[in-house]
Amino acid sequence: MATVKALKTVEIMSGNNHNLQEGKNGVKPDGNGRVNGRNGSSSYKSKKNWKDNFYESFEETPLLTAILTVMCYGILVLVGHIREYLRFYSIEQNKGHTEPKIEGFVPLFQSWESFYTRNVYRRIRDCWNRPVASSAGAYIDVVECKSDDHNWSLELTEKKYHVMNFGSYNYLGFSETTGPCADSAEQCVRETSLSVTNSRQELGYTTVHQELDRKVAKFLGVEDAITFPMGFATNSMNMPCLVGKGCLLLSDELNHASLVLGSRLTGSTIRVFKHNNMADLEKKLKAALLEGRPRNHRPWKKILIVVEGVYSMEGSIVRLPEILLLKKKYKAYVYLDEAHSIGALGPHGRGVTDYFGIDPKEVDIMMGTFTKSFGAAGGYLAGSKALIRHFRLHSHSSVYSAAVPPPIAKQVISVIDIISGIDGTKKGIERINQLAWNTQYMRRRLQEMGFIVYGNKDSPVVPFIVFYPTKLASISRKALERGLGVVVVGFPATPVIEGRVRLCMSAAHTKEMLDKTLDILNQLGDELNLKYSRKTPPDFKEDDSLLNKEVRH
Ligand SMILES: Cc1ncc(COP(=O)(O)O)c(C=O)c1O
Repeated sequence: MATVKALKTVEIMSGNNHNLQEGKNGVKPDGNGRVNGRNGSSSYKSKKNWKDNFYESFEETPLLTAILTVMCYGILVLVGHIREYLRFYSIEQNKGHTEPKIEGFVPLFQSWESFYTRNVYRRIRDCWNRPVASSAGAYIDVVECKSDDHNWSLELTEKKYHVMNFGSYNYLGFSETTGPCADSAEQCVRETSLSVTNSRQELGYTTVHQELDRKVAKFLGVEDAITFPMGFATNSMNMPCLVGKGCLLLSDELNHASLVLGSRLTGSTIRVFKHNNMADLEKKLKAALLEGRPRNHRPWKKILIVVEGVYSMEGSIVRLPEILLLKKKYKAYVYLDEAHSIGALGPHGRGVTDYFGIDPKEVDIMMGTFTKSFGAAGGYLAGSKALIRHFRLHSHSSVYSAAVPPPIAKQVISVIDIISGIDGTKKGIERINQLAWNTQYMRRRLQEMGFIVYGNKDSPVVPFIVFYPTKLASISRKALERGLGVVVVGFPATPVIEGRVRLCMSAAHTKEMLDKTLDILNQLGDELNLKYSRKTPPDFKEDDSLLNKEVRH
């Protein structure tokens, strides 16, 4: 079947792909279909050989599926317009929010977004915003929502679904209600209470914060670190401290909203490069140096490349070694957001630098969040002593906002102690290995079943493509009924034709849970016709050496 070449790309590492063309990140496959050489076996390789083990797969969308998916959205929008017309003339009852209708005023909140929310999203909105009545552990209790008026309003019922949780970013399984981390956080509440009720400068900086900053810096292998109570604000409020007018930001097109907002708040010029595409990044760097600033052609004051470690929608891993080469060649700085890679990637869980075997000091600004692998809240910035001193003095988030609640800081400290083995056990490394194994096992099995799975074989975010909005809703509802909690993502969060289910792997998942999940997905894949892949299964296999005997299985 024909394929949508402009929209989709090839598998980047497997030796089995049939359509050899330039990949999503601009890498050309060799004659074998392998972009970067032989197929790797061990999970983590040395810096020199990183390409040997770098599998990324982005299979093309079948043309017919692309056309039918666009038609599906087209019909929903068309029906939406007809019904808006009927509602306008009160032929159909309007159950949505109505405009205040003040004479002489333009509509306040009428927009494409509100039209889309009323007419498309509303039909399946029960698949999101589901209230949860438990911790975000390996299992989760999801409260049932019912609607008697076609999802205009949702009512909670008494019923709870106790389901396997593949939706939370609980990568290392530290979202726990018992154990050393919870105990240490609980004890901290008794000692310091829940909040410091002030900013760092104004009596909000405790010994717990000092310990946290130092632990984070040591864990990452850099000189210093500063922590903040919110990951989103760590990006959005701190980027303006670094760059401003006359500076250039080169931002990956799939960067998170917090990076996008932070970039806009800097007042710098922003240029977006294609996702993980080094050729495009280099082209933009070259142009920046040759042409300078748009009007006066003076050189840019600074150039900052902004990337993430693991991309949470695509499941891709940043091509950091190549970014660092470009950074050195063109004398640009690198800002690396490790929200989804810290704890979850690398043999020691130290993120993407650990994964590639790169000295973390080569990255200028390291950022990460505590909401995912650490089962806590907040974020950090890390790097040289001078850089962190600068943030301590100039960060809006640090100066004008309360410091991290100490019990949250204690949770993070305990997790770092466990991951780095300071607690005297091997529990941390076992979790890291279990996550890596679970990830590879799930990815390989899903691809073997015939799903189109996106991303890198080592990425704990595992998206598979279902295309149609109708199928998104069906799989979300049916999976919940069968005991599986998953997150589905569709337009506008993804391109129109790339609606997907996103599985987030966790060290807390046992092999039994993975097999049960795979059974459910296999059944649903057949029932809903979701097995779109036309490529032979991948030829990587999970690295069983990751599973030492002490690992829970
Ligand atoms: C890449 C990235 N950066 C920053 C954030 C914001 O982190 P938080 O949810 O901890 O505020 C997220 C959230 O998911 C993210 O994915």
